[in-house]
Amino acid sequence: MGTEQRKIRLGLVGVGGVGAGRLDEALAAPEAEVAAICDASEANLKAGAEKAPNAKTFSDAEKLFASGLCEAVLLNVPHFLHKPFAVAALQAGLNVLVEKPMAIRIGECDAMLAEARKAGKILTVHHQRRIGIDGRRRLVREGGIGKLVRATYLQNGVRNNKYYRTGKWRGTWKYEGGGVLVNQCIHDIDAFVHTGGQVAEVRAKLANLFHDHEVEDSCTAALEYPNGATGTFAVNISSFSPSNVCEFEGDRAVLVCGKTSRLGRLPGGGAYDFYDAGDDAPMFAKKPETQWQDLPAEEPFAPGSLVRDFAQAVRDGRAPLVDAEGAREAVHFFNALVLSHFLEKPMRLPLDPAQVDEVFDALAAGKMRLHRAFTA
Ligand SMILES: NC(=O)c1ccc[n+]([C@@H]2O[C@H](COP(=O)([O-])OP(=O)(O)OC[C@H]3O[C@@H](n4cnc5c(N)ncnc54)[C@H](O)[C@@H]3O)[C@@H](O)[C@H]2O)c1
Repeated sequence: MGTEQRKIRLGLVGVGGVGAGRLDEALAAPEAEVAAICDASEANLKAGAEKAPNAKTFSDAEKLFASGLCEAVLLNVPHFLHKPFAVAALQAGLNVLVEKPMAIRIGECDAMLAEARKAGKILTVHHQRRIGIDGRRRLVREGGIGKLVRATYLQNGVRNNKYYRTGKWRGTWKYEGGGVLVNQCIHDIDAFVHTGGQVAEVRAKLANLFHDHEVEDSCTAALEYPNGATGTFAVNISSFSPSNVCEFEGDRAVLVCGKTSRLGRLPGGGAYDFYDAGDDAPMFAKKPETQWQDLPAEEPFAPGSLVRDFAQAVRDGRAPLVDAEGAREAVHFFNALVLSHFLEKPMRLPLDPAQVDEVFDALAAGKMRLHRAFTA
């Protein structure tokens, strides 16, 4: 059998929740076979075994890692287990696809990256929003909008208290690592940082407006980029507003991201020409006639494609589509927002991992708390 036909022997840890879907995806992947599954819940393991009767079952992840049955694992478990399970799997010589977020703290991400380097194995993260955004990334990163001037991100959503009651780890600093930032919006953060680049400074306010739990359901932040451009970043799971915005504005063009992204080019020499048109220009000039163009459609994310990409990357010895270094930068951005709120100051990046640990340890121990932002 040629190497291109070889099926990668996969192990899945966590086959309930999102892991149930990942199991379906792995079973359907022509590049993979499901050799082992693991879950701490007997019911979830049983349901998984019914779908994958040829897979050996484990209730202890360490035993699956040491079994020799797999060459790669999918880790579909709560956030606090991402780092210890990824490190243990890499130490056992396995390639790893971990669910988002890569981990809760940058120090954990660094430990995972170091272990992957040492083991010479693949470490990747299930950030599906990375797929289909190469065109917009190239525009922003390679001068297609001119010099970045401003970034705007607004994402409104909801989650109710019932959702948070579906798992004891949810809605806790210790086990989930936060609220909307680390869970629902880490994909947004990953795509935002991947497109516009990492920021130099954040000033953030977190709040818990409507939920029973201790973590944030809302974040509003001011950003500064290394070139002095500024940004606003506001995400929540506590708003009924239908508005969502993702824009990168340069001195030559503005990029409006969406299902179909649009590029609006300013005429002539761009913003400087407009603002400095001389004394003959009308004092209250209209906005310049921007020429709008839809960006060419890119192949969107297809369910299962990151599991297949992972298996192919292991089989072919190539890099996966989602780099773990980039996923670490999403955690970096999220950590900066949390520190800025609780330390009540702007945070400059790169952060000190020891300071991140101090704040997250205090939050996990209940020594720092999120006060309600307003009273009814
Ligand atoms: N990529 C996405 O769009 C997406 C969507 C949803 C969830 N997720 C991520 O997937 C991960 C899991 O989330 P979920 O919503 O499925 O959670 P969940 O609580 O519904 O499921 C977690 C599963 O892990 C199992 N588990 C827990 N501790 C374990 C242990 N020590 N050993 C083995 N199994 C264990 C549980 O029994 C359960 O089956 C999280 O990181 C979450 O952020 C990603």
